[in-house]
Amino acid sequence: MIFAQENNRTIPKEDKVFAVNARAKAAIAEKGKENVANATIGALLDDEGNLVVLSSVMEAINRLEAEDYAEYAPIGGTPEFKEAVKKALFMDSVPGEEVRVVGTPGGTGAIRNVISNYTKSGDSVLTHDWFWANYRGICHEIGRELETFEMFDAEGGFNIDDFAAKLGAIAERQESAVVILNTPAHNPTGYSLTDEDWDKVIAVLREKSAGCKITLFVDIAYIDFAGEEKEARSFIPKLEGAGENVLVVFGYSASKTLTLYGMRCGALVCMNPSAEIADEFQKVMEFSGRTSWSNCNRSGQVVMGKIYEDPALLAKVSEERAAARDMLLERGRAFEETLAAEGVKCVPFSAGFFASVACDDPEAVAAKLEEQDIYAVALAKGVRISVASISKDKCIKAAKAIAAILR
Ligand SMILES: Cc1ncc(COP(=O)(O)O)c(C=O)c1O
Repeated sequence: MIFAQENNRTIPKEDKVFAVNARAKAAIAEKGKENVANATIGALLDDEGNLVVLSSVMEAINRLEAEDYAEYAPIGGTPEFKEAVKKALFMDSVPGEEVRVVGTPGGTGAIRNVISNYTKSGDSVLTHDWFWANYRGICHEIGRELETFEMFDAEGGFNIDDFAAKLGAIAERQESAVVILNTPAHNPTGYSLTDEDWDKVIAVLREKSAGCKITLFVDIAYIDFAGEEKEARSFIPKLEGAGENVLVVFGYSASKTLTLYGMRCGALVCMNPSAEIADEFQKVMEFSGRTSWSNCNRSGQVVMGKIYEDPALLAKVSEERAAARDMLLERGRAFEETLAAEGVKCVPFSAGFFASVACDDPEAVAAKLEEQDIYAVALAKGVRISVASISKDKCIKAAKAIAAILR
């Protein structure tokens, strides 16, 4: 650092994903988009490489008035938006526990303020060892560490034993702990915890929260691409049994679910038996919002309000999204099946934007892929392919190339 303070953060020279993406774009400009697979982008693209924007969502955007863009939103979000978020998350099974909703600028802002409010400076936050890299960046930015548990056991199932061990160790030394689980349709693997996984996770949370206040942050950024909408939410009622010492917080994002990435529209939704804890949640989140970004983008909130108060428009959104979800599934399965036919295992994939392959030297594998004009992201434990951003044919091509490199 020359003038700025490092403050224990590791600030890379450039954002890794954006750097690979820039190289992919340069290759496309030189060789044509049909000859390059840019599998780096966490946004849904059609087979021709164009951004998918749900036309039903555009319909709601086109209904906006000048004030909907220009006026400040209330710090915690507009009332219509809060209702819309509850409907988007719970559909028609609203929990019996206390629920509060606070608007955030996307899922990223939600994660940041949960970590800052429910851990102390220097504490560790726990997540799975396959994780969205920004979790670590956010932790370091605000003086926290990120610890991981092994996400998968030898059979490829959710590793409940390692989860229990790592959470137990943190709970023994910290007064409070934040656990981040990104499911369903996890980034970067596409894994969704099963209802049986959830039963075990809840049992562990109940046990470990006996002497430690635990906040469970469920990152549901990809929930609407995880399968049939009600089925993808079947785990939510189970969380009502987690007990008062487990504050359940959902991180909702309209970025992917409504293809509104640029509108920066998201929310935190808490669930707990205690009204006092829920009210406090609302108060601290509004305070942190006020002091970080003040209020959020009003237009995104109005768009959500308009969609969820108009059953016909909402039905159109669901229908369009189901088509996008099917396209994603087809691409993801093609990737997984091609790998399997080549004798290589994909990390367990259920649905969503991404699939991953474990390997010993991810950087070298990604570099070799780039030589074949396939751009992927090297992670600590493997390479990630965004099935959201390349066609089925390119998914097959990427799978064959990975298998050949690993062979
Ligand atoms: C796992 C995960 N969580 C949260 C987000 C946050 O997205 P946004 O801030 O755009 O809502 C992303 C975005 O890529 C993500 O991959």
